[in-house]
Amino acid sequence: MASLHSITFSTKTVLYVFVLASSIAASAGNFYQDFDVTWGDGRAKILNNGDLLTLSLDKASGSGFQSKNEYLFGKIDMQLKLVPGNSAGTVTAYYLSSKGSNWDEIDFEFLGNLSGDPYILHTNVFSQGKGSREQQFYLWFDPTADFHTYSILWNPQRIIFSVDGTPIREFKNMESKGVAFPKEQPMRIYSSLWNADDWATRGGLVKTDWTQAPFTASYRNFNANACVHSGSSSSSSSCTANSSSSNAWFSQQLDSTSQDRLSWVQKNYMIYNYCTDTKRFPQGLPPECQTS
Ligand SMILES: *[C@@H]1O[C@H](CO)[C@@H](O)[C@H](O)[C@H]1NC(C)=O
Ligand SMILES: *[C@@H]1O[C@H](CO)[C@@H](O)[C@H](O)[C@H]1NC(C)=O
Repeated sequence: MASLHSITFSTKTVLYVFVLASSIAASAGNFYQDFDVTWGDGRAKILNNGDLLTLSLDKASGSGFQSKNEYLFGKIDMQLKLVPGNSAGTVTAYYLSSKGSNWDEIDFEFLGNLSGDPYILHTNVFSQGKGSREQQFYLWFDPTADFHTYSILWNPQRIIFSVDGTPIREFKNMESKGVAFPKEQPMRIYSSLWNADDWATRGGLVKTDWTQAPFTASYRNFNANACVHSGSSSSSSSCTANSSSSNAWFSQQLDSTSQDRLSWVQKNYMIYNYCTDTKRFPQGLPPECQTS
């Protein structure tokens, strides 16, 4: 039942073996199977036989978890329901990261707020230790009322951040302009809930109200169609895709409908874009920002 084929790309002889088999499920949502709680002394909990994970934060500590696997490219979806009510000062981070001083990283960070005031969704991309590529958004829904899907599509050509299937940000591979692109270092998924009231809400003006603690964020329906890095060899990954989807993500790009959705988000919900922050880059905008 399994069909195997391999893809070689770029100048590196990296072999990707795609295993497409109905018997090999992609990592569809069991937190016991896919993640380890890494800190928080009992504040992170896996519940409902592995279907649900909750992180909590109180004055003494936050909490966090990480994936057991390392991935080198993938389409990774997670549903999150953020800290409700007065979440000012709290930050829920959900990101991919490699190790070392030249690390790569793809970030979602959710900055809490007073009841009724909007969360900020903060995004960033690091390649070989260089970040400073922030884009921030408001959301078009209340992210604390229900679960919503936050996705990272990461393939050799692009990184696309999506919310409920709507792309909010694209970071293209612009190695041709001398911009490093994450493509050689496998990354793990990390998430944590912590106190950042020195900067998170209105730039640090609004502090965490500890009378509201513990603060809780919830996770469910993790799904990864991704290349799981084997660890042993530095250049080998096996990429699994489940039966109802395919490995299309490996070369996926934005079609015109998605491009329109992206423009809609950027026009109506984007509140910060490093690529337009000329004050911050008096010597000129970073090369990946110069589209013409
Ligand atoms: C397969 O992938 C699809 C789409 O990403 C997802 O909805 C579904 O839950 C996955 N199923 C399994 C068994 O992995
Ligand atoms: C919190 O609400 C204020 C007032 O609406 C807004 O300016 C700010 O961007 C919101 N988000 C954060 C994280 O401060």
